[in-house]
Amino acid sequence: MRKRYRVLQYATGGVGKHAIAGIVAHPELELAGLLVHHQEKVGRDAGELAGIFPVGVKATDSVEAALAMDIDCVSYMALWPDVDLICRFLESGKNVVTTSGLLYPKFFGQEMVDRLEAACAKGRTSVHGTGVNPGFSGEVLPLTMSLLSRRIENITVREFADFRTYNSPELNHLMLGFGRPLEEVRATKHPNFDLMMRFFHQSIHMVADGLGVHLDRIEQAEIHGVTPGGAIIESGPIPPGTIGGIKIRFAGIVGGRPLIEILLTWVATYDMGEGWPQPQDASNDTQWSVTIEGDPSLRCVFEQAESFERAAEGQGHTAPAMICTAMHAINAIPYVCAAEPGIRTFLDLPLIAGRGAFH
Ligand SMILES: NC(=O)c1ccc[n+]([C@@H]2O[C@H](COP(=O)([O-])OP(=O)(O)OC[C@H]3O[C@@H](n4cnc5c(N)ncnc54)[C@H](OP(=O)(O)O)[C@@H]3O)[C@@H](O)[C@H]2O)c1
Repeated sequence: MRKRYRVLQYATGGVGKHAIAGIVAHPELELAGLLVHHQEKVGRDAGELAGIFPVGVKATDSVEAALAMDIDCVSYMALWPDVDLICRFLESGKNVVTTSGLLYPKFFGQEMVDRLEAACAKGRTSVHGTGVNPGFSGEVLPLTMSLLSRRIENITVREFADFRTYNSPELNHLMLGFGRPLEEVRATKHPNFDLMMRFFHQSIHMVADGLGVHLDRIEQAEIHGVTPGGAIIESGPIPPGTIGGIKIRFAGIVGGRPLIEILLTWVATYDMGEGWPQPQDASNDTQWSVTIEGDPSLRCVFEQAESFERAAEGQGHTAPAMICTAMHAINAIPYVCAAEPGIRTFLDLPLIAGRGAFH
């Protein structure tokens, strides 16, 4: 029996490979194609690339072949959002869910909105940006918690993430600067660093719009931590005296007051001294907390782990968060395919549930 929605997966990186396993397991979805960027993956089986079992879908690097396929939805998880390509998918009648930014296209201006809306109108399709953060902890969670509030003074979203098992050399070393001298990273900012940071600005704008608040501006500040001892992590070496961590603060300001804040602490080592996670924190799970200060004050702590009950089998810190990132997109596919054409954010879609996840 044909499943309801045919899905093309784009990219098999840290998030994409978990998406393949998620599509294959989802009762309403069928993996119908795989587009990759790396030449050496062309012709290989999607299941093999995902580390599961062969699924009979071979990887192609031909965008034209992907565009010609009979597909209901593209699961777009390439390193960067290629808006031209996303528009081509939309125009060709393929809905798009993506973890590669584009959570709140309105933030990028009217031109971006017009381009995406025109492509959606032409193809009678929808586009939805998602993830775990941005995508869940910074938007869905605070918006959902606000249902319980009589008065809100401020909202603070905190993320702690351990990058030791996050195998993305491009993101870890080139963009965030792990393993590189502080002066070099400050002097030669990666061209896409600001784009990635703006993904979090989108979250703050979405929450503000969802709560009916008009922001004056968003402030952003970064602090780097230097590791005296160095380390070797999955994505590469971190020599002593180079960057081992980064903290980033985003604050949505109204009348000089921070109303909505996102505080990220991303580390690859645990020897950066006061104010940074300590060696005893190295076994902690990736964690988010959302605090709403107000009447009443609310806090939700959200952790992911391989298991809270069974002995861990060695997924490490990163895999559970990557699975969450991928599944928020995959679980959204039936909702996005059923939606009216256009940009569909969390402010537009109904509550997305993990339909079919009990298996
Ligand atoms: N919102 C969230 O919670 C969240 C969390 C994690 C990541 N993300 C985002 O999700 C996306 C995927 O992240 P990831 O961790 O999977 O990254 P990744 O491990 O670095 O993999 C990205 C994949 O993109 C493809 N790629 C590499 N270079 C490319 C290029 N120049 N042009 C087009 N595609 C290229 C490759 O696919 P192939 O190997 O198949 O060729 C690569 O494996 C990124 O945009 C990332 O920022 C979001």
